[in-house]
Amino acid sequence: MTTLARTALTSMVSNKIQIIGNSLKPPPPAIMKSSIKVPRNNATLPKQGMILNGKTSTVVSLAGVTKVRYAHSDVTVPDFNDYRPSNVSSTSVSEFREREDQRKKDNKTFNYAITAGAWIGGVYVAKSTVELFLKSMSASADVLALASIEVALADVPEGKSVTFKWRGKPLFIRHRTADEIATEEAVNLAELRDPEHDNVRVQKSEFLIVIGICTHLGCVPIADSGDFGGYYCPCHGSHYDASGRIRKGPAPLNLEVPEYTFPSEGIVKVG
Ligand code: FES
Repeated sequence: MTTLARTALTSMVSNKIQIIGNSLKPPPPAIMKSSIKVPRNNATLPKQGMILNGKTSTVVSLAGVTKVRYAHSDVTVPDFNDYRPSNVSSTSVSEFREREDQRKKDNKTFNYAITAGAWIGGVYVAKSTVELFLKSMSASADVLALASIEVALADVPEGKSVTFKWRGKPLFIRHRTADEIATEEAVNLAELRDPEHDNVRVQKSEFLIVIGICTHLGCVPIADSGDFGGYYCPCHGSHYDASGRIRKGPAPLNLEVPEYTFPSEGIVKVG
């Protein structure tokens, strides 16, 4: 072993340097010695603005002589200190931590504000949606206005049936004659498809108040017509008597009697 090799073996160092081989001599596997003193202490590392000279130097190892150099050692590291804002120009660790703590506090405040805003917006949208839904479920204004109607009975001549509009439906109010009353009260219930005595269908025997919708398929019957002197539905030929009871034809039920009262003499309130 030559003196040069012994020197290499006794002077092994652990510094990390880049080893560049060439086509004739590949990089040595492990043992080498650099003639460049690579500093271990960061305090002595090249600082910004310094130019590394990029010189190569010869090293000796068991594999022979090899060249080493710093990568990009000829590049000037720019100094950006003049462009750094004053609040981050300090390199003090304590100041850096203070800045980080403050930044985290600011972020927390911002996040809380965003979250609160999202909640308020969500609650407002939910409230509006529920209101719209409830409004859509309730009756419209024109229907509410006609929820009940009052009719002067003097407007309905004796022996006639007058049609009014109530909750979007035809409403028949019939001023019956004494003969009609006597006839309807005398009807044998056994003859009826939908047995109801006349006195349970009227509150005052002179006035019959029924909803003018045929119980078959919903047509509007014609007053003062039919085989029984009451109402006649021309759609399929249903005949109702002067008490609104089905007497002939396909309709299964009597005409419906709505709720009504007589709040004062000569006035009927329906609904
Ligand atoms: Fe009145 Fe059919 S709808 S008889």
